[in-house]
Amino acid sequence: MKAPIVLAIDTNNLQTAQKWIESTEDSVSVYKLGLEFFLTFGNEGVRAIQSVTDADIFLDLKLHDIPHTVSGAAQAVGELAPNFLTVHASGGRAMVSAAVAALPNTEVTAVTILTSLSEEDLFEIGFANRALESAVALATMSVSAGAKAIVCSPLEIKAVRSAVGISTTIITPGVRPLSEMGTDDQKRTMTPRDAIDAGASLVVIGRPITGAWKDGSDAMREKARRIADEILK
Ligand code: C5P
Repeated sequence: MKAPIVLAIDTNNLQTAQKWIESTEDSVSVYKLGLEFFLTFGNEGVRAIQSVTDADIFLDLKLHDIPHTVSGAAQAVGELAPNFLTVHASGGRAMVSAAVAALPNTEVTAVTILTSLSEEDLFEIGFANRALESAVALATMSVSAGAKAIVCSPLEIKAVRSAVGISTTIITPGVRPLSEMGTDDQKRTMTPRDAIDAGASLVVIGRPITGAWKDGSDAMREKARRIADEILK
């Protein structure tokens, strides 16, 4: 059974990407193609991925520009009919609405505060509030502008869920399975299961699964299954 996992396909090798998908399809619901992949392979690369899977595609382009430009950019990937497309919520209401209008059949997904930013970073940029309050404000505005999904850190799930209600998809990166807590650069983590229990709809996982990849071995398939079972149990 598939778990509510978004697997981050963070590679610039198309064959590797296709093999990762073939190895994890039993456990993973959504595949996330980010800037590294998209800037290397473009729409053609996304189609190559779609040719090996019927799973949902999450195009993580984090668009952020004036509404007219974002509308054009969203239309440029419209032929791919991605299930999710990210925009930066801080682009504002009109920008989020422009993306929604350009892709009515895609869940326009508003990224609130990048999880890589510290409270000090936010202050330096000029944010008046702490990450939690800013994420809630950005999420509330984005949903009222038509966004169907929100990306926030695990620590913000509860507050964002109570602000946006049950019909919005909440997607959270920065999660780590129990066995790997504290082993890498992720500082403010939660387990995937705890994130789902806190109100997340989907968790984004990359290296804990893709790090197990070895051509010709079942290690990655088994790792994905183990993490999926940890969420589903
Ligand atoms: O760290 P991991 O490889 O699991 O990251 C998977 C995805 O989650 C990355 O593609 C990145 O977009 C996102 N991420 C994030 N914030 C972090 C770490 C990762 O948004 N602190």
